[in-house]
Amino acid sequence: MSGGARIPETDPELEKALGDGLAQVDSFLRQRVDYDDPFIAEAGGHLLGAGGKRFRPLLCLMAAQAGKGTNADVIAAASAVELTHLASLYHDDVMDEADLRRGVVSANVAYGNSTAILVGDLLFGTASAVMAELGPEAVRIQAETFMRLCAGQIRDDRPCPPGVDPVEYYLGVLRDKTGVLIATAARYGAMFSGCDAATVETLREYGELLGVAFQLADDLLDIASVSGVSGKTPGTDLREGVETLPILMLRSAADPADAELLELLDRDLRHDDESHARALAGLRAHPALQQAREYTLGVARQAQARLEPLGDTAVARALHAMTMGVVDRAV
Ligand code: IPE
Ligand code: IPE
Ligand code: MG
Ligand code: MG
Ligand code: MG
Repeated sequence: MSGGARIPETDPELEKALGDGLAQVDSFLRQRVDYDDPFIAEAGGHLLGAGGKRFRPLLCLMAAQAGKGTNADVIAAASAVELTHLASLYHDDVMDEADLRRGVVSANVAYGNSTAILVGDLLFGTASAVMAELGPEAVRIQAETFMRLCAGQIRDDRPCPPGVDPVEYYLGVLRDKTGVLIATAARYGAMFSGCDAATVETLREYGELLGVAFQLADDLLDIASVSGVSGKTPGTDLREGVETLPILMLRSAADPADAELLELLDRDLRHDDESHARALAGLRAHPALQQAREYTLGVARQAQARLEPLGDTAVARALHAMTMGVVDRAV
């Protein structure tokens, strides 16, 4: 989806605070993603200008409501998270040979792989510069987040090692490539709004589970959604041979009736449109897709359960609603 953030409609006062905060994040981002060289400014602003849901900054702002609310540090941290995310999208589209992002042509297609990678690096650097203004603890968290994100993306591109359970391997990849940054968004929001250490940790743990649910939903949508809805090209994971939960569940069931679909999945689908379309249709109709949806819903519920220490507060209710909003689009 390339539209704006979906602010939960649970409390008018909270809604207004979040809307104002997001506007501040947007103006912060526009100021930082502006470089002297006109080409670098254009390539660096390519995906920022195209939109995106701003899900991570929104989560950071929501977590800040568990403390004293938004302030300049929260805005800077929320912006740094979006910058880190943006950078990872430039790199991810190179890895996944994706052609469409946020409803526009991807940076790798617009400018070539080398430029897309270097612009991603530039944005990672910009995020680090922002966090350096918030102190050494912030720099450490930023560095550790970035390291886990990269490790997750590296492992995403590799086959599951022999002797390791493929579903466990996949979930570990999800925690790293996606979970950690979403966890950091929640953690920063709590940390920079003056929450105590236990609340910061509650929100971090919640964020990591929410992030896993978010990626599981994204993986389901790659199989189930129709073109034009997500601002990306559906079927990309399948084309690139990235095996997500429905396929892993299909493989673990080993039903002889699945032989044809499994044979299709073993083909190189990158340049074989007909087999790709058949494999996608086969997966959409397979019970493993429903099984993966149920698993995704379960992770979202686990995330919600982590919110318990926040009590029955406006922010806890909003986070509850947002958690279901994340998976609703796919289950
Ligand atoms: C895409 O993230 C990458 C994933 C972790 C699935 P988003 O779905 O948040 O992308 P934008 O920011 O809305 O474009
Ligand atoms: C990417 O996962 C996660 C990160 C960007 C770290 P995907 O490859 O599924 O993301 P999309 O679907 O291209 O957005
Ligand atoms: Mg991708
Ligand atoms: Mg990817
Ligand atoms: Mg995806």
